[in-house]
Amino acid sequence: MMMMMMPTAMMLEAPEKQFANEGESRSDSGTSGKVVFLTGVGGFIGSHTAEVLLERGDKVVGIDEMNDYYDVAIKRANIELLRRKAAEVAARDTSGETSHEDLFVFAEADICERELVKSLFDEHNVTHVCHLAARAGVRPSIEDPFIYIHSNIVGTVSLMSIAAEHGVQNFVYASSSSVYGGSKKQVFAESDRVDNQVSQYAATKKSCELFAATYHSLYGLQSTGLRFFTVYGPRGRPDMAPYKFMNRIFNGITLQQYGDGSSARDYTYISDIVNGVVLAIDKPLGCEVVNLGKGNTCKLKEFISTIERLCGRKAKIEILPDQPGDVPYTCADTTKAAELLGYKPKVQLEEGLTKTVAWFRQYEESKKSRKERDDDGVLAEVDDSEESKDDVASRDGEWKEDSDPISHVETPKAAPSLKA
Ligand SMILES: NC(=O)c1ccc[n+]([C@@H]2O[C@H](COP(=O)([O-])OP(=O)(O)OC[C@H]3O[C@@H](n4cnc5c(N)ncnc54)[C@H](O)[C@@H]3O)[C@@H](O)[C@H]2O)c1
Repeated sequence: MMMMMMPTAMMLEAPEKQFANEGESRSDSGTSGKVVFLTGVGGFIGSHTAEVLLERGDKVVGIDEMNDYYDVAIKRANIELLRRKAAEVAARDTSGETSHEDLFVFAEADICERELVKSLFDEHNVTHVCHLAARAGVRPSIEDPFIYIHSNIVGTVSLMSIAAEHGVQNFVYASSSSVYGGSKKQVFAESDRVDNQVSQYAATKKSCELFAATYHSLYGLQSTGLRFFTVYGPRGRPDMAPYKFMNRIFNGITLQQYGDGSSARDYTYISDIVNGVVLAIDKPLGCEVVNLGKGNTCKLKEFISTIERLCGRKAKIEILPDQPGDVPYTCADTTKAAELLGYKPKVQLEEGLTKTVAWFRQYEESKKSRKERDDDGVLAEVDDSEESKDDVASRDGEWKEDSDPISHVETPKAAPSLKA
């Protein structure tokens, strides 16, 4: 039998060397003593989480490869926002000894770059990991699984091994409601058996949970996997339904609705999710997976009509048959999150959508004025890739919709072509 040897760089020290005591601060930065290595910091959930961590005095060491899965300008704007946030927090230090670089560090890199990641851990004495970087989206994972395996599995395992080597106090990572895959249940609980993922994306997320258990059992790495349910809010992902619905209603583009609109989803507002992430960072649980959702549902019909009302415009809707693989109803059981973390989602859909639509209006305005300036020849380049992507999507009749959650775990009618 052939033995697989781990490369030297991948070897871990004996388990005894693992953990700094909980609460023991190894950091000389930030006011809380926590130094959080935050992956996917340029993304939707990552940037919101970093903002809250900076505000409360944690040091954030962020990493993001800034890939072009969606408009990179959005991610760059998120990083700028975080730099400003760090500067604002640093300015509160009247001694004048704290600079924004002491509070927020950003590396534009792939999390799989082990030597770089290790050097960041060493240099900044990382105490906690909040791992949100991933290739997200179901359908693209069916078309090109290998980039998902790279970021979501190789990247996660690499980080877990580095985190274990460095004895971090807690490793919190993003899983997804899509791990519930082909479940016939309507309300999903962590105790459900989840071994029937129906997309490569979901399989990568389930793999992260399996590796977390392995790193806990071998090296004592404390981890919590958070199964997010359809997150929406300001700065939301342009490939997801809430953003796409707003965009199409606002701009008079036809949207495709699959089914009669009676399907229902558990939409969770970003601040509730971030609250759950922060609670999880602060409380090592051993090795757990926890649902983070709102815990109730909204019908698709109602979801669209709420956005119509808030935008003050009627949607142009094309009704299409149900997507194969779509489930009619999804909902998170949040009992475990409440019991273990004290998680309590607060934002009702109406309130969350009101804030999201208000943000979207402003965002559209600023895009429009950028474009006008461009037309006047003030700017050399304006990124209008989002509109063009949407145009292509509507031409193709392809409605990627909210590609992350279970609602869009699509099983294509014809088997997708396999990429070598
Ligand atoms: N948004 C949701 O509704 C939802 C639902 C379930 C799970 N999740 C999970 O939550 C996490 C955050 O999601 P999001 O909505 O903020 O997505 P996002 O795409 O906005 O953010 C993810 C970020 O990770 C970065 N990234 C990807 N691969 C990387 C790599 N190899 N190295 C460095 N950076 C890399 C991307 O550039 C991106 O900025 C993801 O793990 C996602 O799978 C999100």
